[in-house]
Amino acid sequence: MKIIIINGPNLNLLGKRETDIYGNLSFDEFFHQLKDKFPQVELSYYQSNVEGELIDTLQEVGFSYDGIILNAAAYTHTSVGIGDAVKAIETPVVEVHISNTFAREEYRHHSYISAGAKGVILGFGLQSYELALQSFV
Ligand code: DQA
Repeated sequence: MKIIIINGPNLNLLGKRETDIYGNLSFDEFFHQLKDKFPQVELSYYQSNVEGELIDTLQEVGFSYDGIILNAAAYTHTSVGIGDAVKAIETPVVEVHISNTFAREEYRHHSYISAGAKGVILGFGLQSYELALQSFV
């Protein structure tokens, strides 16, 4: 089973960035732990701060992979283009967020991704990714 985690802007700074909200672990460390927990999954990871690169990647994997776990980060709340890409591809997308976006600023309450997603998992810290992965296996 081929699954990819796609992370959007500023998530390359996990472990350093607003640690009270996002925690102290870098995504690389977490990703290795996750791979060890799910050896049966061919798990890959892509991160970009660039909206168009995220869309390119969704299109590249979106007709051959079994699942996409997408944290579009700030683009969640702004990007019609990423929302359209999620709707355009065949691979199911689970939208994840580390924080509970509904408990934060009002502008984080709307997502352009959710309408095209298979499901949404948010607010469980990095465990949100693990729960999303479990939903595919
Ligand atoms: C986030 C929530 C977004 O509102 C924010 O812009 C992020 C991270 C999360 O995982 O909690 O960068 O997607």
